[in-house]
Amino acid sequence: MKFAIRAGRVQGFLFTSAWWGWVYLGERVPGVVYCSMGKRIAGGGAGVVRGPGPGHGQGSGDGGALFARGHLLQLAGLSAKELRAILGRARVFAGHDADGSDDPKAWRERLRGKVVANLFFEDSTRTRVSFAVAAERLGAQVINLTSVGSSISKGETVADTALNVAAMGVDGIVMRHKSSGAPHLVVRTLAERAHSYDDAGRVCSVINAGDGRHEHPTQGLLDIYTIAERFDRLDGFDLSGLTVGIVGDIASSRVARSGIVGLGALGAKVVCIGPPTLVPRSIEAMGCTTTHDLDGVIGKLDAVNVLRIQFERHDGGGGGGEKMPGASNAVASVREYYEVYGLNSARLAKLRPGAIVMHPGPINRGVEMSSEAADSGQSMVLRQVRHGVAVRMAVLEMCLNASAQGR
Ligand code: NCD
Repeated sequence: MKFAIRAGRVQGFLFTSAWWGWVYLGERVPGVVYCSMGKRIAGGGAGVVRGPGPGHGQGSGDGGALFARGHLLQLAGLSAKELRAILGRARVFAGHDADGSDDPKAWRERLRGKVVANLFFEDSTRTRVSFAVAAERLGAQVINLTSVGSSISKGETVADTALNVAAMGVDGIVMRHKSSGAPHLVVRTLAERAHSYDDAGRVCSVINAGDGRHEHPTQGLLDIYTIAERFDRLDGFDLSGLTVGIVGDIASSRVARSGIVGLGALGAKVVCIGPPTLVPRSIEAMGCTTTHDLDGVIGKLDAVNVLRIQFERHDGGGGGGEKMPGASNAVASVREYYEVYGLNSARLAKLRPGAIVMHPGPINRGVEMSSEAADSGQSMVLRQVRHGVAVRMAVLEMCLNASAQGR
């Protein structure tokens, strides 16, 4: 079986089959690049390009192999040990390490002389700035590229853009794209063409900053970090005994998929909550449970992670990335959605004492949560953002050093 992507310009249907382990991208394409199922990346050692496998979170699948090669494309396939290694390093960068032995003054030496290119083909505030801050704190130089103002707007594919950036000697590419699987395609292309842009055939690191509805691995990691901090699990990042609710637009959410996989691998129970149109029962195959009854379950949660309704990914929601609340086939009425699933003050009061409220941002106040919930003492929203820098420092350091070793 094959999947196809015309990277850079999405015109057709795309679908993330997280439970089967493959990313299907059906597109209308001139100049299409095909990736065969399970085919090894040329020059990529153990890396195999594919989506999350059925054994996600238990060390099966390919996330770990790709991570070892200096790429972080997904949490699926990373073992608990690998997740803990990243989170443990983030703990140092967050200033939460037990002995404080790592001197912050030396951090700027970690990636000195390296160049990180932020390739964001979809809008971003937190993730883009956070990666830039993280790279600069480690002494790397950061180049920012967006669709507007680059040759993407002239029809260049994301794979060609990445090849050209790599040919300039960039050490790491952080990329966000609206197509699920786009970073996997880039890794494959970079590996196949490595000898045409680098004398030694070296492949620069690729870090997924969110691909379509597939994964957002660093968001998953920073969410895990925030939960671990609040529940005193920074030693060992063992989340067993904790129940995390993810509320809202699970179907369109890469944050939810990384969360389900990562939290589950570290022992937390995950329950996905929302209306049937946004919470397909099939998501349970990733290792969570589902319910459509927020009020019935809210009192049992230790953490509630509220998601934005991603209208731009819905039928009738505007395919060009623009937000069109109210134009979605999946959410007939935003007001009714808020009545039934919005985190309002009444629901805030039903939370367990000590339970925390999270949101990856951007928040649509009055749609998925009230200002009272977003700004409450239980809200970890800004701590999530803060931890995002530490997590991304850990990921950049580990990925860029792993790829340098392989060079
Ligand atoms: C999310 C994203 O872009 O996937 N935000 C983020 O990265 N902080 C969630 C969203 O867009 O709703």
